[in-house]
Amino acid sequence: MCGIVGYLGNRDCTSVLMDGLEKLEYRGYDSAGIAVFEGREIKTVKTRGKLSAMREKLEREGKPSGHCGIGHTRWATHGEPSDINSHPHSNGRVTIVHNGIIENYAELKEFLTEQGYTFLSQTDSEVVACLLDYYYAERNPLHAITETLKELRGSYALGMIFKDFPDRVYAARRGSPLIVGMGSGEGFIASDIPAFLKYTKEYVLLDDNEIVRLDNDGTRFFDVHGKPVTKDVQTAEWDVEQAQKCGFPHYMLKEIHEQPDVVQKTLDSLVKDGVPDLTGIGLTDDMLRGFQRVYITACGTAMYAGIVAKYAIEKLARVPVAVEIASEFRYMDPIVGEGDLVIVVSQSGETADTKAALELAKSRGAKTLAVVNVKYSAIARLADICINTLAGLEIAVASTKAYSVQIVSLYLLAFRFAYARGIISENELKRLTAQLEKTPETIRSVIEHSDECQFAASQLINTETLFFIGRGFDYALSLEGSLKLKEISYIHSEAYAAGELKHGTISLIEQNIPVITIATQRHVLEKTISNMEEVKARGAYIIALCRKGTTFADGTVDLKLELDFGELDDMLVPLPTVCALQLIAYYSSVLRGNDPDKPRNLAKSVTTE
Ligand code: F6R
Repeated sequence: MCGIVGYLGNRDCTSVLMDGLEKLEYRGYDSAGIAVFEGREIKTVKTRGKLSAMREKLEREGKPSGHCGIGHTRWATHGEPSDINSHPHSNGRVTIVHNGIIENYAELKEFLTEQGYTFLSQTDSEVVACLLDYYYAERNPLHAITETLKELRGSYALGMIFKDFPDRVYAARRGSPLIVGMGSGEGFIASDIPAFLKYTKEYVLLDDNEIVRLDNDGTRFFDVHGKPVTKDVQTAEWDVEQAQKCGFPHYMLKEIHEQPDVVQKTLDSLVKDGVPDLTGIGLTDDMLRGFQRVYITACGTAMYAGIVAKYAIEKLARVPVAVEIASEFRYMDPIVGEGDLVIVVSQSGETADTKAALELAKSRGAKTLAVVNVKYSAIARLADICINTLAGLEIAVASTKAYSVQIVSLYLLAFRFAYARGIISENELKRLTAQLEKTPETIRSVIEHSDECQFAASQLINTETLFFIGRGFDYALSLEGSLKLKEISYIHSEAYAAGELKHGTISLIEQNIPVITIATQRHVLEKTISNMEEVKARGAYIIALCRKGTTFADGTVDLKLELDFGELDDMLVPLPTVCALQLIAYYSSVLRGNDPDKPRNLAKSVTTE
């Protein structure tokens, strides 16, 4: 979603802003812009399209030269992507950039129109600039901001500059991320740390309803009433390298290759003396024994990680687990309360629906556990208990390594759950953990055979539609494989439980329609093979992902990808198998000439409903 940057310091502001916006590109956007003080004048350059279009425009129109300014990448919500709707927006004496949605913008617009303001854009954001100007009667920016914030409903992160103060940047947030970079003699605001990581690792997290002011005397923080507040400065654990491609053609490929390491790191953080130890995060065996029911709620890939977890927790711990899409959960009046464990899963920790689902669960008295990759995110801070997955910075829009560490964490939870409830012995707990410890190796071995995945992708080059099928854990993986493929290759794809196809969808199977079958679960292998035969008989082109050594009757399979899992338990093979699916998606995208890192219409961090 939208990205915000702001800078005050001695460097060339335009370069810092453009650099920062580039680092936020991963969030997804369709237009961009900057506003920089040139002396006492604010020069704004903005355009529809990518940052390359911005750069061309800056070359054509001249780069603003100054030391103070704000910038933005916009992911359109209100009003089409256009030059006019791009941020920054100015009205009167105030220029702003905004991430989020102003829910009461229509009524504010009506009020401001009555006051004589006119609007240029179709955006909800422009009303914020007008309202700030309206409350700027006393030429006191802080007063204008606190009065304006009282009127806004919805979510926002705002970057603001006032014409009379060419050496100040203000920012405020509620519901959308905003981080303040604390350089020496310079300050930054940004939607995410990579935007300023090159200049400083020191940062402050702005909380909801807080305001920050960067000026030449330093950086100050205020509450919503304008009273000064003291904030802790933290140090980012990431380094600049994590925000670079390091020789890979795309971030997505780099992130796929990072999986053995990040899975290992996540295991190391949660395993002690050969068993999962969750006491460090505040989850005791006593608590685990007490839960009667588990909900897992999340969006997209994180929700599909939840489906793998459901299979694992129910199989091992014998507790009922319901997986709900967060945008449904929050409005379905779920039967949830005391005695329930609600697990939310999120890479970014900022997904609006997941956050709302978490808030709802908390308000109803359930214990909440967040499995989150960004430890300073809103979800990480809101949940009662938090597992911080250690995927590091994930930049490609399509989630890969974050999914793997999510399922590693959730497997460990499933093991401990089962042990705490007396369903598995300590020996079995150790055996399962040791099995999971083997996954970095098996993931590595699958990634080493990426040429086979590339070949499989080449078979899909002219495909318009395809299916993924599987049973049990293979079904859970089919959902993720299908999502990954469609989001970056733009091939229409659907995932089905293999046994379900014949209840309607099989009517879509015709000559040469690819059916990617995941057939790793040995206890249902024969059943899956029957389902493969059913689609083969109707002309499907079958690509089978299976354990090394799996045999099929002649003519059943068109392309076999044998994956070497060693002696890994069937329950754990989703970890290496998903890497093959990610690679098939990646190569399908590249072979079709797409940019896998920035698929059309998508945003990395979805902070609106
Ligand atoms: C797909 C993908 C999305 C996210 C979803 C949730 O590759 O990345 O489906 O998984 O938007 O995002 P987080 O995990 O940040 O809550």
